[in-house]
Amino acid sequence: MTILLPGLLDTDAIRKDFPILDRVVHDGKKLVYLDNAATSQKPRQVLDVLNAHYERHNANVHRGVHVLAEEATALYEGARDKVAAFVNAPSRDEVIFTKNASESLNLVANMLAWADEPYRVDHDTEIVITEMEHHSNIVPWQLLAQRSGAKLKWFGLTDDGRLDLSNIEEIITEKTKVVSFVLVSNILGTVNPVEAIVRRAQEVGALVVIDASQAAPHMPLDVQALQADFVAFTGHKMCGPDGIGVLWGRQELLEDLPPFLGGGEMIETVSMHSSTYAPAPHKFEAGTPPIAQAVGLGAAVDYLTSIGMENIARHEHAITEYAIRRLQEVPDLRIIGPTTAEDRGAAVSFTLGDIHPHDVGQVLDEQGIAVRVGHHCARPVCLRYGIPATTRASFYLYSTPGEVDALIEGLEHVRNFFG
Ligand code: ALA
Repeated sequence: MTILLPGLLDTDAIRKDFPILDRVVHDGKKLVYLDNAATSQKPRQVLDVLNAHYERHNANVHRGVHVLAEEATALYEGARDKVAAFVNAPSRDEVIFTKNASESLNLVANMLAWADEPYRVDHDTEIVITEMEHHSNIVPWQLLAQRSGAKLKWFGLTDDGRLDLSNIEEIITEKTKVVSFVLVSNILGTVNPVEAIVRRAQEVGALVVIDASQAAPHMPLDVQALQADFVAFTGHKMCGPDGIGVLWGRQELLEDLPPFLGGGEMIETVSMHSSTYAPAPHKFEAGTPPIAQAVGLGAAVDYLTSIGMENIARHEHAITEYAIRRLQEVPDLRIIGPTTAEDRGAAVSFTLGDIHPHDVGQVLDEQGIAVRVGHHCARPVCLRYGIPATTRASFYLYSTPGEVDALIEGLEHVRNFFG
């Protein structure tokens, strides 16, 4: 039976773009791919561009005078234009290509470690994060705190999986140099209240860093509207290849802040005694960059834009609302995170009685259903809710209500299997 929900995309048409979704796994079971928060699948439009890049245009960028070098450079820099437009960046020079969101966040932490005043993070200053961060937005700040002597503070969580901002004035103080938080949680699905946090950070003159890894693939992202100083995200979760991430940063900050990695292409001049640096973004892109990956990300941005980010967000809202409703019908199932689809992304974590999530994942896999199990690189969230791990289903533009139903049936098998 086909289930129609208001706001759904034409998934029959969209799924034709994704060859992998036709795969059959385990004894003829049709793949039900619900692990999109870990990585998304790639449409033919992106695969074709990657192929064409290596078949026709492959060369290093910014270095050669030959045809291929010029073509590769134009494609690489063209991808930067596309990403800048996708996030409404005021300038293309504010888009730095990295290898993933973790590298983007580590880059900011290291810029601040080596910066002069007023940005420098050192002892007697404070760094603020939240308890719902992915490890990639915890560990770089722990490293910076340990090395600089700065104090690391964080917002806790409410029982229903949202940020507890009740003590915002005690957490973000005059000593706070930087506030870094996730826009959409990869484990809870929570969409965080950016405005309240940014307002307080601006009051005390702290920089704001936003991890938009689970937002950029799923909803319109406007870095100017967010009013942040840095925004990080990754290509492989948004229909692009892996090996490409983005750090958007405000131009004046990128001009003032020092580079982290040194090497080819990030310099203006080099002598044996010292060097001067190229302007941003090249100052932050030492060495041969992920060229084909950036070009592939440009194609992914074209693809998502052709579908429309508003339409994708509406589709996922409908699927998530349906999934939450159906999951709540499963006996002994506890959703970890908000139980309404409002202010929520399309990742839904849950526990099922006392069945270990790894067992849940394995029995689901035998039925062709791919979910992620574990602490999802957000172990403090599991500690907060007193659980070792969760099972997580995460949806994307090609997910269907039928796949939600398959998950629910799969969970019935799990319950029967474990008595
Ligand atoms: N950050 C990715 C996830 O949540 C890997 O699964």
